[in-house]
Amino acid sequence: MDNFVVGRDISKCLLCHDAPCSKACPYKQDPKKILKSLRFANYKGALKGVSSACENCSAPCQEHCALGPDYGIKKILTSCNMQKEKLKLDYTKADIKSDICGIEIENPFLLSSSVVSSSYDMCKRAFEAGWAGVSFKTICLMDIHEASPRFSALKNLDGTFSAFKNIEQLSDHSVVENLEIFKKLKQEFPNKFLLVSIMGRNEEEWAYLARESEKAGADALELNFSCPNMTKDGTGSDVGQIPELVEKYTRAAVDAVKIPVLAKLTPNVMTMSPAALAAKRGGAKGVAAINTIKSITELNLVQKIFTSQKVDKVAVGGLSGPAVKPIALRFIAELAQNKELKDMHISAMGGVYTYEDAFMFMSLGARSIQITTAVMEYGYDIIQELVEGLQYFVASSGHKHLKDLLGANIPNVVDVNDMDRDIVVYPKFVRENCLHCGRCYVSCRDGGHQAICFGEDRNPMLDPKKCVGCHLCVLVCPNRAIVSSEVKIKKPKE
Ligand SMILES: Cc1cc2nc3c(=O)[nH]c(=O)nc-3n(C[C@H](O)[C@H](O)[C@H](O)COP(=O)(O)O)c2cc1C
Repeated sequence: MDNFVVGRDISKCLLCHDAPCSKACPYKQDPKKILKSLRFANYKGALKGVSSACENCSAPCQEHCALGPDYGIKKILTSCNMQKEKLKLDYTKADIKSDICGIEIENPFLLSSSVVSSSYDMCKRAFEAGWAGVSFKTICLMDIHEASPRFSALKNLDGTFSAFKNIEQLSDHSVVENLEIFKKLKQEFPNKFLLVSIMGRNEEEWAYLARESEKAGADALELNFSCPNMTKDGTGSDVGQIPELVEKYTRAAVDAVKIPVLAKLTPNVMTMSPAALAAKRGGAKGVAAINTIKSITELNLVQKIFTSQKVDKVAVGGLSGPAVKPIALRFIAELAQNKELKDMHISAMGGVYTYEDAFMFMSLGARSIQITTAVMEYGYDIIQELVEGLQYFVASSGHKHLKDLLGANIPNVVDVNDMDRDIVVYPKFVRENCLHCGRCYVSCRDGGHQAICFGEDRNPMLDPKKCVGCHLCVLVCPNRAIVSSEVKIKKPKE
């Protein structure tokens, strides 16, 4: 499904609730589901849903589209249909089961502890949609009074989130209420994984919350040492920065229960290993990471401050969503490569939207994947795309079981000094895709090595004598007209 034009249109689709396009289809197809599958990289799911009926249809879906007929749903559907032959593999037998500390889960996907997993009704709907489990919103014995508004987002030009900031604290239900929810969930969904996230202020509170959660049916505990929005009473990410406290509080929880205990660690540190090792010494069987990254997304504009207008207060809060995935991957790689942590379960999270994002973490050894921001943006239904996309991926890798693929990338993450520095990989122009915009020329001129000429005919040309193979042109090209040549040439002597 390497059709970039289709890919580019997809992000604009609003993925409407109760979508008018799907309701209008005279052939009982579901254009919204197809567009959703494409948005979440579940190409097999998209192709499965499309039929040749679209070709000769008058496309009432377009007339009812919230973006208007110009959005061109028909073009996307017919172009999908043309690619149908490409993904024919039978993937239905691919096994994507995983486990958390030896307890089987039907797929690797859990809601992460946050607003998305904060009530009985929400968890029930998530389970029914196909999530393998939840990490329930962190419970505590503190009084929680949330601020309003408490979210902000950095957005891409198409309106989707690139990063999300929250200043939310912990569950504002009482512990008693939450324990009742756990009992009910476990009774009704015995095969779903209930990970209970807890936070105490001292050893007694950690032990109490651990014990009561186990009694109420928790399959495992997640110790929240990492909330950046809890800064009082020796709690939150401040605890996660002090290995001695991580060890002490982990031990307090571990000694109170028989179920496995995971430590949820903070990325607001230089290196995560000291806290992970401390959790292991305290008896934890695994780690969960990353929690959100301390950040400020917006400030009042100076004009506002100097013209006696009402200005908003700003608090440092936790960043999540697509922008944090690279940081999460680097921490998971660090944990996975640390031999002393070899047997610890890794539950990874941070910016996962598609099965491809998820698999990157699994290729670093994560056995479970947790998600919040993508669910806040698109709802629980994304689980269908995650599951089907992953199943197809496993089948197309020639393997039967996801478990056979875990950790494949661990040796491939190397120190920057160990990268091959004696070769140049030149870019290659794909002329038929070129839009003649000159973006590659400008970037190479001002951010590269002046290796691209752009003449009167508006065709970019490469000067291999100047090109250092940095690939900036490949990255800025808006239409995949420049690709990596895959030819590795020995660097000319300077
Ligand atoms: C609104 C919001 C509330 C959150 N509340 C909690 C929480 O109570 N406990 C916790 O461990 N993590 C909490 N998190 C962090 C998430 O569980 C997760 O670690 C983080 O958002 C990264 O994953 P994501 O990029 O998929 O959102 C919260 C995140 C958000 C966005």
